[in-house]
Amino acid sequence: MSRLDSLRQGATDAPSRAYDWADQRFELDNSRNALGKAFPAEDSFLLGEVALFCFIVLALTGIFLGMFFEPSTSSVTYEGSVEKFQGQELPEAFVSVLQITYDIPYGMFIRRMHHWAAHLFVASIGLHMLRVFFTGAYRNPREANWVVGSGLAVLAMGAAYTGYALPFDEFASTATGIGFNIANSIPVVGGIAAKVMFGGEFPSSATIPRLYFLHVLVIPVLIGVGLALHMAILIRQKHTEAPRDGDVESGRKSVDQDDGDVIIGLPAFPNQVAVSAVVFFLTLATLSVLAGFLPVHNIAEYGPNDPAGTPELIMPDWFFMWLYGFLKLLPTWLSFTIPVVDIHVSTEFLGGVVLPGLVFLAVFAWPFIDYHSQQTHFTSDPLERPWQTATGVAAIVFIMIASIAGMNNILAEVLGTTTSAVNPFLIVALLVAPAASGGIVYRVLSDGRTPSDEGQQEVPSDD
Ligand code: HEM
Repeated sequence: MSRLDSLRQGATDAPSRAYDWADQRFELDNSRNALGKAFPAEDSFLLGEVALFCFIVLALTGIFLGMFFEPSTSSVTYEGSVEKFQGQELPEAFVSVLQITYDIPYGMFIRRMHHWAAHLFVASIGLHMLRVFFTGAYRNPREANWVVGSGLAVLAMGAAYTGYALPFDEFASTATGIGFNIANSIPVVGGIAAKVMFGGEFPSSATIPRLYFLHVLVIPVLIGVGLALHMAILIRQKHTEAPRDGDVESGRKSVDQDDGDVIIGLPAFPNQVAVSAVVFFLTLATLSVLAGFLPVHNIAEYGPNDPAGTPELIMPDWFFMWLYGFLKLLPTWLSFTIPVVDIHVSTEFLGGVVLPGLVFLAVFAWPFIDYHSQQTHFTSDPLERPWQTATGVAAIVFIMIASIAGMNNILAEVLGTTTSAVNPFLIVALLVAPAASGGIVYRVLSDGRTPSDEGQQEVPSDD
């Protein structure tokens, strides 16, 4: 064999030799079974993947932004390209975000991409959660994964909140200040809790470094750990899947329609990987289009934080609007002082901590409220679950009305009236509409059903 031929032969053998090398060390052959793991071919199951991919985009774009962002409120002279600020002494954090937006190549695009990925992250988590809720995928044995998922949803909102504050512009820091006041309003421990989270009074020189630390390290690490746990539980328990109409052939064996131990679907490799790659690139494409065409949070227009002023319009992100609605609707006469211990319970505490706390408690506890002693491996049709679907619809209506209340100033403007005129209607709507809509859904879905219809698709556990 000529030298050239043996070189060619070596090149052709290289992949198999590399495989053998890795196989000896990592026992790749044993992992091949995992590559055959089946994924149910349900489009709505891709929502969780969209959330996952948004997190990856957030991490990558965040690394870029972190190279230029300065987590400091010390004054520096602005020398960038926004004319109206030239020569002014401005907070360093604000200046660095102006620089990212207007002076660093691709900076504006990456900043917008990070912003839209954050919004899509929260939106896809919400939709994924609704999919899991309405199909009953949280039931025994998946309660733990619902709880881990709920923790992830809280962390995602925490990440968005801490990031919102970082540019230290007038608009965002006023909205972030509401969070400080809420934390401060917690009886007994509020003062210290607010100071720990915000680095002293708000805003102080330690606020931005503290929120930055939470935003780029603490919360992402917790999300990473939560995601690893979420995926590990998912792989261990397998996905739920749609009920089968009859017995089916899976590979070499015939599967009983009630056998939840066998998943019928696409093998992880190469089919599901290909589907996931398409979802990844579609997510990336959607975010690129949004970042290319839709501007975000125009800090040059808002200007730097001004502790002496209050902007005309204060708006949190849309996913905090329901919480802001509680704050706006609760009348001040609800606040009271517990006499003997002299503890003051303010409406800020009731609207900003107690009510949202109850909402989150209900979310975390849901699989135990709708508890099933038998294991269920198939999804259910929401139309077959009257009271659970009715509860879900009532919850959605409740959050939507609370969110509209968060924008009561805009509503009042549209109607040509004042916020104090629309608030009583919003309070009534918040109390009545969820119960009414839930009642209607329940009535419509239960018509013609017998109690034994429920839980039809439950499969007894093997053990
Ligand atoms: C960072 C946020 C989250 C990510 C990235 C994520 C990702 C995923 C993925 C990729 C799956 C498998 C595919 C699917 O069913 O969609 C899944 C399943 C699941 N997730 Fe999440 N999730 C998140 C948050 C949540 C939340 C907020 C909940 C509920 C409160 C939740 C509950 C569940 C449950 C119970 C399953 C198993 C569903 C089944 O077997 O059908 N997840 N998650």
